[in-house]
Amino acid sequence: MIKPHGSQELMPRIVNTDEEKESLLKLASEMKKIKVTSAAAANLVMLGAGYFTPLDGFMNKDDLVSVADDMKLKNGMFWPTPVVNLTNQKVDFKEGEEIALVDPNLDGDNILAIQKIDKIEKLDSKEIDNIIEKVYGTKDSSHPGVQTFYEQGDTLLSGSVRVLNFSYFEIDFKDTFRTAMQIRSSIESKGWKNVVAFQTRNPMHRAHEELCRMAGERVNADGILIHMLLGKLKPGDIPADVRDSAIRTMVKHYFPKNYVMITGYGFDMLYAGPREALLHAVFRQNCGCSHLIVGRDHAGVGDFYGAFDAQEIFDQIPKDALLINIFKADHTAYSKKLNKVVMMNDVTDHAKEDFVILSGTKVREMLSKGETLPKEFARPEVAEVLMKHYMEG
Ligand code: ADX
Repeated sequence: MIKPHGSQELMPRIVNTDEEKESLLKLASEMKKIKVTSAAAANLVMLGAGYFTPLDGFMNKDDLVSVADDMKLKNGMFWPTPVVNLTNQKVDFKEGEEIALVDPNLDGDNILAIQKIDKIEKLDSKEIDNIIEKVYGTKDSSHPGVQTFYEQGDTLLSGSVRVLNFSYFEIDFKDTFRTAMQIRSSIESKGWKNVVAFQTRNPMHRAHEELCRMAGERVNADGILIHMLLGKLKPGDIPADVRDSAIRTMVKHYFPKNYVMITGYGFDMLYAGPREALLHAVFRQNCGCSHLIVGRDHAGVGDFYGAFDAQEIFDQIPKDALLINIFKADHTAYSKKLNKVVMMNDVTDHAKEDFVILSGTKVREMLSKGETLPKEFARPEVAEVLMKHYMEG
């Protein structure tokens, strides 16, 4: 099986036993506390669930700048995006102390993790601008990921963490939230060798469905891992529970049994396009997948990235940075000429009007007016789930 990133074994930061959890919670109740940002909380869930192997906690300034500038930690390890605990709160603890990190997404003072504070460092506005520009390719705060980063604050708390729970993901998405450990062991017990991961933050329409099918056939996969983001999204994106239900409906009706695993991970969307695609590859490798699908405008938003920037970046990183393979997919859409979903570079005789293409905005507009989505675009069973959400919402 493919090895985790930079390690022989997964290195989840979740505490292992109930006893350990209980004694740490007792200790944590005496510690100084800080309510972290949702972005930091999402990082904790990913660290806890083994997805961010081999990191053991939050980056310090040297690592952060090195990751932003050169996509590697100071020790040379490939890493494409910041994993930080930034705050704008007053800090009443010192370097070397252990503090309790409170979950911002649950009511009350739920302790999500304990952090050993290695360093407390300030970032100046030039440093923040540089990091954002490098990671997101823009400093424009109309970009939702950029705005979130700017809002986090300028005090960087670095150091290793021990994660005590998986926040609301375990509760709200019991059937779908999975750790990297769970996915690895499911893949292993199924005896799958070639596994294609499909990243998504959307309900799966016919293009997505066919993308999975084509990738599966072309790499001779034993199975597909649908791995959906369950964390925070920008306004207008389809909420995770609705998407989960739409995806389950699609798989039930249109894929053979025992070929698809439907799973999710607890992370907020960065919308960092190419850099996020690299991060997606890191943590799908950690899940034990041999391939990741990267299609059109992967993890993009608005017009901030070129349609295939997220594929090209994989040609710009060192060859040995990752072990996972990238399945680069061209724009996929329903062909009116052939009456099926095709990849555009497979049908060079087609013109634009030979395809059924709907923008996300158009889809939302149709659904909110109660209009049925064309069957060439969405499976009727999936359209029904979405329509119900829009009518009730
Ligand atoms: S993402 O932000 O999670 O990447 P989305 O759920 O829309 O967004 O896409 C999931 C994956 O499918 C990404 O790899 C994306 O590039 C790919 N994709 C989505 N729609 C198409 C399409 N019509 N043609 C090719 N690839 C697509």
